[in-house]
Amino acid sequence: MCGIFGYITNKEEALGPILIAAAERLTYRGYDSVGAAALNNGTIDLRKDVGKVEQVAEKYSFTELRGQRGITQLRWATFGEPSQINAQPHLDSDGDMVGAHNGNVVNNIELREQFIAEGMTVRSQNDGETCVHAVERYINRGYEFIDAIRLAYGDLEGDYAFVIGRANDDKLYAFKKGSGMVVGLGEGFTCVSSDLPSILPLTREVIRPQDGEIVTLWADRVEVRSVKDGKLIDRKQETVTESMDAVQKGGYAHFMLKEIHEQSQVARELSHVLNGNREVDVLVGKMKNARHLYFIGCGTSYHAASVGAVYFAQLAGRAAIPVLAPQGIAQYAPAVSHADVGIFVSQSGETKDVLNALEAAEAHGMECFGLANVVGSTLTKSASLCLPLCCGYEISVPATKTFTNQVVTFLYLAFKMEGKDPSSPLDGHSLRSGQSIFEVIPELMEKTIEMVEPQIKAIAKDINEWNDLYCLGYGATYPIALEGALKLKEITYAHCEGMLSTEFKHGPLSAVSKGFPIIFVAGPNDVPLIISGINEVKVRGARTIVIAEEDPRLHANADDVIVLPKSDPQISALLGVLPLQLLSYHMSVMRGFDPDFPRNLSKTLTVD
Ligand code: AGP
Repeated sequence: MCGIFGYITNKEEALGPILIAAAERLTYRGYDSVGAAALNNGTIDLRKDVGKVEQVAEKYSFTELRGQRGITQLRWATFGEPSQINAQPHLDSDGDMVGAHNGNVVNNIELREQFIAEGMTVRSQNDGETCVHAVERYINRGYEFIDAIRLAYGDLEGDYAFVIGRANDDKLYAFKKGSGMVVGLGEGFTCVSSDLPSILPLTREVIRPQDGEIVTLWADRVEVRSVKDGKLIDRKQETVTESMDAVQKGGYAHFMLKEIHEQSQVARELSHVLNGNREVDVLVGKMKNARHLYFIGCGTSYHAASVGAVYFAQLAGRAAIPVLAPQGIAQYAPAVSHADVGIFVSQSGETKDVLNALEAAEAHGMECFGLANVVGSTLTKSASLCLPLCCGYEISVPATKTFTNQVVTFLYLAFKMEGKDPSSPLDGHSLRSGQSIFEVIPELMEKTIEMVEPQIKAIAKDINEWNDLYCLGYGATYPIALEGALKLKEITYAHCEGMLSTEFKHGPLSAVSKGFPIIFVAGPNDVPLIISGINEVKVRGARTIVIAEEDPRLHANADDVIVLPKSDPQISALLGVLPLQLLSYHMSVMRGFDPDFPRNLSKTLTVD
């Protein structure tokens, strides 16, 4: 996830070390490139490249940067590959302005085409540059700077925060739409950043601008204005008292919990990016013409691929084969050809098992595409085309937000395969009218977490003594049950098996004893089937816990019902994973483990 930092001081000083230190404090957000610019006596000194802060700062001598105003940015690639030209900050056409953003401008491609047609110099594919030209456009038309920003804000669609400065000026400007932004006020300086951790060592006096607000920064004061009418807003200054560690975790006890709670926001951002992404149509065209479809991954990403295969069958009437990557080499690679399409799914884009499978499939001529979170990773470079998952940095080893965004991407693609426009409102749909399904999903995710968390904590306490448990599902909830079981194993160290609910009677039933916890994830159309499963194990003493939409029949049969908001079978499955993530998290913490860094595991598996 990108990070921006702008700094303005009342004395000309060595800005370089201040910018480097701020960039280092933003690194925990994840990044692939880094840049810094100093605005000094009517000139702009811009230095940037792909790489780690310490490497780029040393190679380009960031410490030499001087002046009274500076901007630094860490980039996590979404639009445009990681490269020097796409790294931020960016200049306007004549080099009179410099700016950087974090977040995504989803109409980036359309705007770039307009700017080129208007005669501006567009150097990169990056949407941060688009923000700069969006302001430049209105400066060229004779508007005052604040008015140019207000008009640019109207043109830039998406979620982002942006900071910009002009060479011949004594101020910096920042504005916010959807992404985080904090302003710091210190002795003889002010600053603006994507988040608090980069500000805290400098000052604990902050202002938190809201969406639709423009901040003008001088060295000794700031002004906040509304983008709507340009009028001044009285945003109160506050003093931050939390520790740095607490601030980095956004006030949550662990990164995993923070990332669980971030899921609705990243799903919202993802659908904006997918709506504006022409590569989606290219990929869908390829899949429509393919003989066979294979969705390939490992661990959590394989589970997302498996949910995707169910969606494709249920919504688009297309069979897709979910494949565990190494098994793909042995079982499917010999059978594939150029007529087939494979989608390789990976958070890191570096999992060796997945890359090996891609190589084997390619050797047999298969067309290979990707879904990856880390843009610039090997998968994004090896696949013919790779859609970004837009989750930002996932610090916790157990994957959470990247799983849900993988599933959301598959749902989006399934809609497209069905010939529907995923961005159009759901007129007449039982779920909601007037909003698209992908606008409704983040709201339902938020509601789910709110509804289930207290009950999950109580259940976690009750079943925590058990070191054997099962998680069962059917249809779209079958891979969700597999994912829940994996999360439980990964961070509680208990043995939890995920299984198709109907398979339980074919053997595992003999393991059931009094109090044995069995979790069912039930789709709204599968309640009668799940009730049979519940009773089969209940009469043998099991404690039955069901995750499902409200249904009196479930309350009458199960020991606990964790109720999900009403939706439809596909969305209900996606929501069903949230209580399982929370259950794993709370059990792990109750056992005294660190869910962020489970023993024996690492985030990225680059070995066979
Ligand atoms: C998930 O919680 C795990 N950490 C693990 O199963 C992971 O999903 C797997 O190693 C694949 O990683 P990838 O998505 O980065 O390819």
